Amino acid sequence: MASMTNSIVLNDNYEAELRDISGDDSFLGAGDLLIDVSHSSLNYKDAMALRGDKSIARQVPLIPGIDAVGTVVESASERFSAGDSVILNGAGLGEKRHGGYTPQLRIDASSTIALPSAFTAEQAGALGTAGFTAALSVDALVRQGVQPEDGEILVTGATGGVGSVALHLLSQLGYTTVAVTGRQDEHAEFLTKLGASDILDRADLGEEGKPLQKARWAGAVDSVGSTTLANILAQTKWGGVVTACGMAQGVDLPATVMPFILRGVHLAGVNSVDAPLELRQSAWDLLAEKLDAAVLDDMTTVIGLDEVIQAGSDLMDGKLSGRTAVRVR
Ligand SMILES: NC(=O)c1ccc[n+]([C@@H]2O[C@H](COP(=O)([O-])OP(=O)(O)OC[C@H]3O[C@@H](n4cnc5c(N)ncnc54)[C@H](OP(=O)(O)O)[C@@H]3O)[C@@H](O)[C@H]2O)c1
Repeated sequence: MASMTNSIVLNDNYEAELRDISGDDSFLGAGDLLIDVSHSSLNYKDAMALRGDKSIARQVPLIPGIDAVGTVVESASERFSAGDSVILNGAGLGEKRHGGYTPQLRIDASSTIALPSAFTAEQAGALGTAGFTAALSVDALVRQGVQPEDGEILVTGATGGVGSVALHLLSQLGYTTVAVTGRQDEHAEFLTKLGASDILDRADLGEEGKPLQKARWAGAVDSVGSTTLANILAQTKWGGVVTACGMAQGVDLPATVMPFILRGVHLAGVNSVDAPLELRQSAWDLLAEKLDAAVLDDMTTVIGLDEVIQAGSDLMDGKLSGRTAVRVR
């Protein structure tokens, strides 16, 4: 068994620290696969856990990191053998059980995906839960029948992890996209490169609006929630589909039923943590088939475990954009 060296641990006071946990097998957790973790990533949820948010960190001590990419060392599952490269997003990692900010971990094969040959472990780490959730969201639009010729797709939180990967995937699939951001001055060029044909200021959607507004969107990928999501629903065209995965603005949804009953709008929830294996595989297949790895590399920052705590704080302060991969060993 490879020796455990430094890991990030949320201690009994919910403070994140870099700690050597070698020899303490309780930190391996349970599961039918033992993996050497090469990469994890930094997501919004990780940043919340790193600052000790108890809604994410459901136990202490806890190794945060909601993503783990690595190589199977021991397998009690028929689906994987020693030496296989694998990815696990969510499934309680870094929340209810130890996560990916550690060099070795036990995980469940039932939610684990084989690393697609299209990606290196570092690229899979860069995608992480945010990229996976973007793919689940885009997959949901496609499954619910939204087609490129139906019209524009709105993407909120566009400079963030979910938003940026969603914008790129949608444009690779031939959709016309419109990005919503609060950081147009800094990131307009980045968003245009990702395929956005137009950019809206997040303030345009952030205030309470009428229950039904001028219908513009054939669909939307929302990671913001609150009044933004309510306004998107009010601006969605007949039969359009809006996916909701996030709450960067708030967990509330101050909307009416009018878009649903007068325009047949569909609201599709996206949950990456508990997604069944079939949806996980479909999302990763979509990423492997459509994502341009060079575009991903351009939006990726790679950090070491020793930089994660500061980067989590920077993410919460809105100082990061794109994706952050964490090199664990
Ligand atoms: N359901 C799931 O399974 C799932 C999975 C992954 C993520 N999420 C959730 O999805 C959200 C986004 O995750 P992420 O990883 O993409 O986070 P992120 O990288 O931090 O991006 C969030 C983006 O939201 C925008 N934003 C921040 N504060 C805002 C506000 N007050 N009003 C409007 N927009 C705001 C910012 O984009 P601009 O600067 O461009 O405006 C920011 O970059 C989070 O709430 C996260 O918890 C859910």
